[in-house]
Amino acid sequence: MIPQGFIQDLLARVDIVDVVGRHVQMKKAGQNYLGLCPFHGEKTPSFTVSPSKQFYHCFGCGVHGTALGFLMESRGLGFVDAVRELAQQAGMQVPEEPREREQASKARGLADALQQAADFYRRKLKESPAAIEYLKGRGLSGQTAARFGLGLSPDGWQALREVFDPYEDARLTEAGLVIVGDEGKRYDRFRGRVMFPIRNRRGAVIGFGARSIDGSEPKYLNSPETPLFHKGQELYGLFEAQEAIRKRGRAIVCEGYMDVIQLAQAGFEESVAALGTAITATHVANLFRATDHVVFAFDGDAAGRKAARRALQAALTAIGDAKRTSFVLLPEGEDPDSLIKAHGAAAFENELARALPLSAWFLRAVSEGKALDTAEGRAALVAEAKPLLTSMPPGALRLQLIGEVAAASRMAAGDVESLFGLARWRRLPSAPAARAQRPALEVADLKARVLQWLILFPELAREFNADIVRETDAGGQPIDRKLREVWRAATQTAAATTGAVVQALQESEFLAEYEVIAAQGLTGDDDPGAARDEVAGAFARLGRQRLEARRAELLGRYQADPSEDNLRAYQQADREYARLRAGGGA
Ligand code: UTP
Ligand code: MN
Repeated sequence: MIPQGFIQDLLARVDIVDVVGRHVQMKKAGQNYLGLCPFHGEKTPSFTVSPSKQFYHCFGCGVHGTALGFLMESRGLGFVDAVRELAQQAGMQVPEEPREREQASKARGLADALQQAADFYRRKLKESPAAIEYLKGRGLSGQTAARFGLGLSPDGWQALREVFDPYEDARLTEAGLVIVGDEGKRYDRFRGRVMFPIRNRRGAVIGFGARSIDGSEPKYLNSPETPLFHKGQELYGLFEAQEAIRKRGRAIVCEGYMDVIQLAQAGFEESVAALGTAITATHVANLFRATDHVVFAFDGDAAGRKAARRALQAALTAIGDAKRTSFVLLPEGEDPDSLIKAHGAAAFENELARALPLSAWFLRAVSEGKALDTAEGRAALVAEAKPLLTSMPPGALRLQLIGEVAAASRMAAGDVESLFGLARWRRLPSAPAARAQRPALEVADLKARVLQWLILFPELAREFNADIVRETDAGGQPIDRKLREVWRAATQTAAATTGAVVQALQESEFLAEYEVIAAQGLTGDDDPGAARDEVAGAFARLGRQRLEARRAELLGRYQADPSEDNLRAYQQADREYARLRAGGGA
């Protein structure tokens, strides 16, 4: 890897307007530049580049990113090549750390070992009539098996010895192919199973899924996390599907290896699956890089319904206004594989035709099991919707969903918004009278606001050092972790632009969310003064709420044990609280 410090120096040196300007003709519009999006065909410009934020966003197709991201997307470059290219443009020399070079060659070593194993498994499948019979019995053609590179791991404990000499090669354990047991005994992880190689987007084998063919448990084994293999990011079948995804303009996400393969054979080559884990926002965000429409198809069983719920959450976090998701819940007891095998491709096509759009699926999910003819049932619906909607990026779709929740719960949309702490920040009351009428914003909501402003105006981070450290000190909640890492990135980047902060957080589990916030920041002209006031206001409120909680806690302690000490502690907190209120801390 290239040192983070160099990347930040590089970003401080280049201007995203120049980088994009080499590919896209742009005109100044307010503080931003506007041009025709190079990533989708359009006649009126919606591709926006912000020189102050050093970030681009297309309001038509939803792509967004930093100067580096733009080079990667527009030129199809890998990260390292994009850095090299940008450094060359800026006249800088990319430093290569020996450790980095070592890591790269190690990764190549693991990839080689995995490819060798995949070739070996494929050969073994050809030699096994029983395994071939198994796959035929499941309805797969030889051509399909070849397309997915299916194989067979032989039954012995050290079958891989046949191709690896020495078998003690450390790469085998690091790649998850060999397990070191008690007393250092080594043996193959995958034995007597049909092997599904998992490939990354460039087609390199990075891991395996493996199904037992003799009914032994567990039914599926997967490669462990390795330096090459990250389940929360990779999707099974994406390499094989990517061309069809582009052509068809959609990706189908299902639950299992066999589903992907059966779907592809039936003509739905745009199918992928998560790898025995829940769908994450990162998965969805990755798919949205390739297409505007993601269709989820879940098995008609309890596990499928649970997976659908997790996918809804992931989709809401990752979706932008220009993107679309649909949901299919298959008939009870069916998965795509069984449905196609029993009733053919048309049966799955029928299910697709009945897919629900995100909005309808969302409403169904949050109203399920609630008696909407009672006030309690409607309140429960609102409570269930809250975490889902507050995790969404702001935008037209969120407004729509808020409208749906409002209608279903017989509330005014504005009341739902303020109940969720999603009311437009600028309209937040500051006058004491208005304050009394409104429900207090919850701590997490206030912090979410601060997070947005820190991403959009990272130069504020240093000013609020003390507040941020104090308010995130407990640190257990995701919002605290987000605030901390964004604050750290903002105070450590050379340029302190939105783009530089997002670039510094490429490894973060919350990256997709940060990118969405950055993109939304390109809607209007900057007003750093207002942002500063709002952050200051939020910290004042957070401080007051913390003091208020402390005062209540000390009062409780005094009531339980009316000692002199407890009384004094309470009175002290009460005085501080009164002082803060008098001082007008909002
Ligand atoms: P399913 O249990 O739905 O299996 O698991 P399936 O895909 O229909 O498998 P077949 O048709 O019986 O062959 C769905 C996915 O969950 C993961 C696998 O990725 C599987 O494809 N899984 C399942 C595991 O990782 N381990 C297991 O033991 C079972
Ligand atoms: Mn199945």
